[in-house]
Amino acid sequence: MTRDGDQSPAVGIGEMLISSRSLDEYRAMFTLSEDDLSRKILDCPGGAAGFTSAVNHLGGDVTACDMAYFDSDAEQLAGIAERETVRGNRYIRAHSEQYDWTFFADPDEHLHLRRGAAEEFAADITRNPHRYVAGRLPALPFPDASFDLVLSSHLLFSYSDRLDAAFHLDAITELMRVARDELRIFPLVDSGPGAPYPHLDSLLADLGDRGIAGEVVEVEYRFQRGAHHMLVCHHIVRPAARTIVGGTP
Ligand SMILES: C[S@@+](CC[C@H](N)C(=O)[O-])C[C@H]1O[C@@H](n2cnc3c(N)ncnc32)[C@H](O)[C@@H]1O
Repeated sequence: MTRDGDQSPAVGIGEMLISSRSLDEYRAMFTLSEDDLSRKILDCPGGAAGFTSAVNHLGGDVTACDMAYFDSDAEQLAGIAERETVRGNRYIRAHSEQYDWTFFADPDEHLHLRRGAAEEFAADITRNPHRYVAGRLPALPFPDASFDLVLSSHLLFSYSDRLDAAFHLDAITELMRVARDELRIFPLVDSGPGAPYPHLDSLLADLGDRGIAGEVVEVEYRFQRGAHHMLVCHHIVRPAARTIVGGTP
């Protein structure tokens, strides 16, 4: 099964990680400005990231959506966030050559900062459960154009060993359905050795056929080697057909 987030072990980290990135990582991965952070945002998959909590505490309006929120309550998710932080850090220590130690100084700092984000998530999902909505791509429980900006990190492209090309196309189409303006996806490489997504050109062509323009943009965030780009998607605005008054042109 390859269509909807199958959890079978594969290369790289193995079973899909429920990770906990911080607001600072999101800012760097997605080149988020203060103006971006004031928009109505969907983070999908939200995982156990601290982003939603941190931005909402600053007065923002972020909703997280993830299929992990179906099966576990807030207390269970807090435990999962801690265990997954340790599992992710163990992988990074064992494969430190796959990482550029710029954003994080070393694996100890990685553990410390990710644990902080996991704790922020755990506290917030208890206090503000309405901000964490269970959903499973490629079908999200939101009306069309519900959000100004949609962010999607470390699912699409990261797990292309188990999520096929049709899933990528349908998931991006769905994320764009709920986006009024823009979708940003990071990174464009797989979660193990950092191989670039091999079907990007045909994906961009298929998205174009669905009225979605995608542009690859370099970002400043440096952690996983090769993961330096995001995909920015917009709706293609087709000019309205001209009405010729008084006859044929
Ligand atoms: C590596 S985590 C990324 C979390 C967060 N964006 C971050 O960067 O810290 C991947 C997440 O994708 C979620 N996921 C996997 N398949 C999904 C699907 N079909 N729909 C929604 N979420 C999914 C998993 O539950 C997991 O939390």
